[in-house]
Amino acid sequence: KHIIIINGPNLNLLGKREPEIYGHQTFEDYLDILQSKYSECKLEYFQSNIEGELIDKLHEVGFKYDGIILNAAAYTHTSVGISDAVKAIETPVVEVHISNTYAREDFRHVSYISPNAKGVILGFGLKSYDLAIESFIFSV
Ligand code: DQA
Repeated sequence: KHIIIINGPNLNLLGKREPEIYGHQTFEDYLDILQSKYSECKLEYFQSNIEGELIDKLHEVGFKYDGIILNAAAYTHTSVGISDAVKAIETPVVEVHISNTYAREDFRHVSYISPNAKGVILGFGLKSYDLAIESFIFSV
């Protein structure tokens, strides 16, 4: 399966950013672990801090790939544009969050992405991405 992980704003700082919430591992290190665990999958990774670049990437992969794992980060709670893009494309999108957004501030309790996602996995740290890959492998 051809799967892409798309990370939104500030997730380039994983490992350095609020480690008590997001952990000490960089995403690149975790990606290496995922890649060797799921050697049967072609895993790609894209990160951007720019809303329009995330939308462009969804358009680019959204009619070709088997699965998209999207952590839109702060844009989750604000972006009608990213939500519309998720709806517009054909490839199923699993929404992922590292933290349990429901245990945090009220403004993180709203997701514009969830109504258009195939499913949502959140609160398991970086393991949330691993579970999202599993969901594509075992989906019928
Ligand atoms: C996040 C949760 C968002 O509320 C926050 O803005 C992020 C990361 C997460 O993965 O836990 O940047 O998407």
